[in-house]
Amino acid sequence: MLCILVHILVIVSVTTADALPNTKLLNDGKSIPIVAYGTFGKTNEVEIIKPAVINAIEAGYRHIDTAAVYQNEEQVGEAIVDVMSRGIVTREDLWITTKLSLDVGTREGVLPSLQTSLKKLKLDYVDLYLIHSPMNLLNVQEYDYLNVWKGMEDIKKLNLARSIGISNFNSTEINRILANSKTVPSVNQIEVNPIYTNLDLVAYCQSLNITVMAYAPFGFLVPRPYLNYTTSVTFEDSVYKRIAHKYGKTTSQVVLRYLIDRGTVPIPRSTNTKRIKLHFGILDFNLTPNEIYSINELNEDAKVYNFQDESFFAALSEYYGM
Ligand SMILES: NC(=O)c1ccc[n+]([C@@H]2O[C@H](COP(=O)([O-])OP(=O)(O)OC[C@H]3O[C@@H](n4cnc5c(N)ncnc54)[C@H](OP(=O)(O)O)[C@@H]3O)[C@@H](O)[C@H]2O)c1
Ligand SMILES: *[C@@H]1O[C@H](CO)[C@@H](O)[C@H](O)[C@H]1NC(C)=O
Ligand SMILES: *[C@@H]1O[C@H](CO)[C@@H](O)[C@H](O)[C@H]1NC(C)=O
Ligand SMILES: *[C@@H]1O[C@H](CO)[C@@H](O)[C@H](O)[C@H]1NC(C)=O
Repeated sequence: MLCILVHILVIVSVTTADALPNTKLLNDGKSIPIVAYGTFGKTNEVEIIKPAVINAIEAGYRHIDTAAVYQNEEQVGEAIVDVMSRGIVTREDLWITTKLSLDVGTREGVLPSLQTSLKKLKLDYVDLYLIHSPMNLLNVQEYDYLNVWKGMEDIKKLNLARSIGISNFNSTEINRILANSKTVPSVNQIEVNPIYTNLDLVAYCQSLNITVMAYAPFGFLVPRPYLNYTTSVTFEDSVYKRIAHKYGKTTSQVVLRYLIDRGTVPIPRSTNTKRIKLHFGILDFNLTPNEIYSINELNEDAKVYNFQDESFFAALSEYYGM
């Protein structure tokens, strides 16, 4: 009898909010893993991504973040085939996020571009598809992210993407989507880290039940060779060190946990086997509100990915070989 009761309780608890462990409930009812493995790197070194993604999935990551512009969807797809063929995971265990090519600016352009990505990824659907940017970064002839969003709604209806969202959108751009379409984006993927806390935009998204994925989770705490900014804060800062010591973690693990405890989904990127493992070891502790506050205090409002600045996009493209 007790045994049956326990079973019922377990079933009830897995069908309610935040059901699966280490996932977050999106506004469309899907459960997204709370940490993603980032794959953006130099396009002339793209072959290192396949073993890196295999390492990441073997280390426990279930969420992989890629994009058409990263030119590595084929290598990510090969890694997925590899781990699935060895029985390490099934398709249902994985959450694959990719992003619309930057050269699509119309509603009609979305479906063929997603089909190209799916073919490279060797998948018949992605879990999450994002508009990469509201800005017309490649100066394509027709470009309106609102039309593109209608194309995103189309592909969701076709079930080729289970969830749809946006990336690099500010509150004005989000408001324009909300005022002119029927679907609230499930995710906004933006830069968030201790050096660029982005408090207002994160709060705005969260007030709308739009989940924030936090890219560049280490911000200027790690080298950004193509940029000139130097921060006064490092991983050695006493605020991080004190918290790290308390939980028996490294300061980089504290930074990732800080982002999770702010309710965001961080996307650490590493091709170093040791760090891939290290960055996944963040599921067994929580920061207190005061600890989050003390990390927020170190904010310098310094954004790594400043797409508004043309010289930045040129420097980034050159460094990464895009
Ligand atoms: N939507 C967008 O527009 C957008 C923009 C930017 C990024 N993203 C996504 O977010 C992901 C993460 O962003 P990001 O690549 O800028 O990454 P990040 O995770 O903030 O930083 C990655 C870099 O930091 C180094 N690193 C990591 N931990 C370190 C440590 N403990 N000590 C020293 N160095 C360390 C890594 O080198 P090693 O490899 O040697 O560890 C790597 O070069 C991307 O891969 C991409 O998936 C999206
Ligand atoms: C967010 O959306 C989920 C799924 O629809 C829902 O269960 C949850 O109550 C919503 N949260 C808020 C704060 O509206
Ligand atoms: C959002 O970006 C657009 C385009 O760059 C700009 O016109 C608008 O002022 C921005 N809104 C906010 C709140 O920053
Ligand atoms: C960095 O500084 C150099 C030299 O001052 C300058 O030419 C370059 O444009 C700067 N790069 C960025 C991304 O600001």
